[in-house]
Amino acid sequence: MNLLFEIHLLFLLSAKKVSFVGASLYEYQPEQMHLSFGETVRDLVVTWTTNQRTNASICKYGRNAVESTKVNTESPRLFIKYIHRVTLKNLKENTCYKYYCGSDLGWSRKYWFCVPQKNENWSPSLAIYGDMGLTYAYSLPYLSDDVQNRMYNAVIHNGDFAYNLESEDGERGDLFMKQIENIAAYVPYMVSVGNHEAAYNFSHYRKRFAMPGESEGLYYSFNLGPVHFVAFSTEVYFYLQFGYEPYCNQYSWLENELRESNRPENRENRPWLITYGHRPMYCSNDNINECSIKENVIRTGDPNKDLLGLEELFYNYGVDVEIWSHEHSYERSWPLYNYTVLNGSLTEPYRNPRAPVHIITGAAGNIESQDSFSGDLPEWSAFRSQDFGYTRLKAVNKSHMYFEQFSVDKETVIDKFWISKDRVEPYFKNANQSYYSQSIDSISYSNSFSKQNLVCT
Ligand SMILES: *[C@@H]1O[C@H](CO)[C@@H](O)[C@H](O)[C@H]1NC(C)=O
Ligand SMILES: *[C@@H]1O[C@H](CO)[C@@H](O)[C@H](O)[C@H]1NC(C)=O
Ligand SMILES: *[C@@H]1O[C@H](CO)[C@@H](O)[C@H](O)[C@H]1NC(C)=O
Ligand SMILES: *[C@@H]1O[C@H](CO)[C@@H](O)[C@H](O)[C@H]1NC(C)=O
Ligand SMILES: *[C@@H]1O[C@H](CO)[C@@H](O)[C@H](O)[C@H]1NC(C)=O
Ligand SMILES: *[C@@H]1O[C@H](CO)[C@@H](O)[C@H](O)[C@H]1NC(C)=O
Repeated sequence: MNLLFEIHLLFLLSAKKVSFVGASLYEYQPEQMHLSFGETVRDLVVTWTTNQRTNASICKYGRNAVESTKVNTESPRLFIKYIHRVTLKNLKENTCYKYYCGSDLGWSRKYWFCVPQKNENWSPSLAIYGDMGLTYAYSLPYLSDDVQNRMYNAVIHNGDFAYNLESEDGERGDLFMKQIENIAAYVPYMVSVGNHEAAYNFSHYRKRFAMPGESEGLYYSFNLGPVHFVAFSTEVYFYLQFGYEPYCNQYSWLENELRESNRPENRENRPWLITYGHRPMYCSNDNINECSIKENVIRTGDPNKDLLGLEELFYNYGVDVEIWSHEHSYERSWPLYNYTVLNGSLTEPYRNPRAPVHIITGAAGNIESQDSFSGDLPEWSAFRSQDFGYTRLKAVNKSHMYFEQFSVDKETVIDKFWISKDRVEPYFKNANQSYYSQSIDSISYSNSFSKQNLVCT
């Protein structure tokens, strides 16, 4: 690798200097390198940008020396700068690669990534957080250090980037994307969309990141070990000026997605169902809007606008954990449905929980600082902290998952808990019937989320 790399560099410096047409080398230099999972964990999408158009997008990669070259012959997409994408397919499982990308007009430096195994019998680790800015990104040095120590198989950034990606004609977004290279060029950086991405119909989010599926990263799912992750946009409930279409498309996708992931063969392989979206259903912060009202729009929908909420849907399909951000704090709930705590038991609330567990993790650090809490800990809330920091998840196996919250302020873990289930079964409304003996399609729902949703035809 090194030798090849140097040869390239020499070639670049000596041969290309003369043939340049106007623009300088720097204009073709790849920047903002980041990774994401493609359709499986064996497919990685590499994304980067150049100031000027180059005629090829190339990645060279291998275990030690360059073994493969992947070229995307489609033109890079012009979005302020030129955005390049190359998908590295059918990578070898449990293998670490080195890679660099660019074209003969300029190559990136060398990075690495490790490909996990595709099946469910291993224990993936992730870092999860939301609300990280370009400035005051207090968690970033700790996350970079963790990533370089190979602690994670992926990172989830649950909405609100840079503050904002589009600011100063996107220059702030460019700086942010360069800043997270320390993480995102080494492990898949999986994202969801937040309110700070709303400008220009979320286009900076949609163009800069490359998530699986066909929705430009607004909703998608991926498998990692025993977990099925489902990402979605909470912003479809708030930005109706962009139309009902994003809400309608997402709702029908979510229903279908959850039904599919509950098919016995799928749920048995991947019993853990984790959702992530930006704005929470529950929170106990003292801000005026989100946390004080019980009829939270994400939770129960908005009847005046004919929008269906998500709590009942997620509950009925046995979602295990719902991860949120938006509040600049950390908060963990007891198993919870419709403001009712449904502990597995009083002594072991998270063993066979009877409802989803909510985690709010939006304290990665940004210019808006922390959000404080109001009043005493509500009955549904188990732990909360204003410290800056991020969440770590280890999905140990099909019956046990471990979460912990790392506080950057205290440089230590301030909360940890296990969720476990004795059987590979969700806590359906009708969970006392044998779940698998029932056809998924025959499960009946209350009228509140019938499919006859007027705005979506
Ligand atoms: C890219 O290709 C076009 C047409 O083939 C050519 O005009 C242009 O000079 C090329 N640009 C670079 C940077 O090589
Ligand atoms: C905004 O983008 C979404 C797709 O992401 C599209 O469905 C919708 O129609 C767009 N809205 C407007 C007003 O362009
Ligand atoms: C939620 O609880 C309220 C009472 O607190 C009740 O009126 C409502 O029907 C419940 N909703 C569901 C979907 O169970
Ligand atoms: C749930 O479990 C926790 C921990 O044992 C306990 O403090 C809390 O009171 C329980 N809540 C209910 C409603 O049982
Ligand atoms: C799953 O992990 C838990 C916690 O480490 C362990 O106690 C349990 O035996 C494991 N189950 C299996 C089937 O390996
Ligand atoms: C199952 O739950 C329903 C509703 O809570 C209840 O009416 C029914 O008796 C339960 N069935 C069994 C077998 O426990």
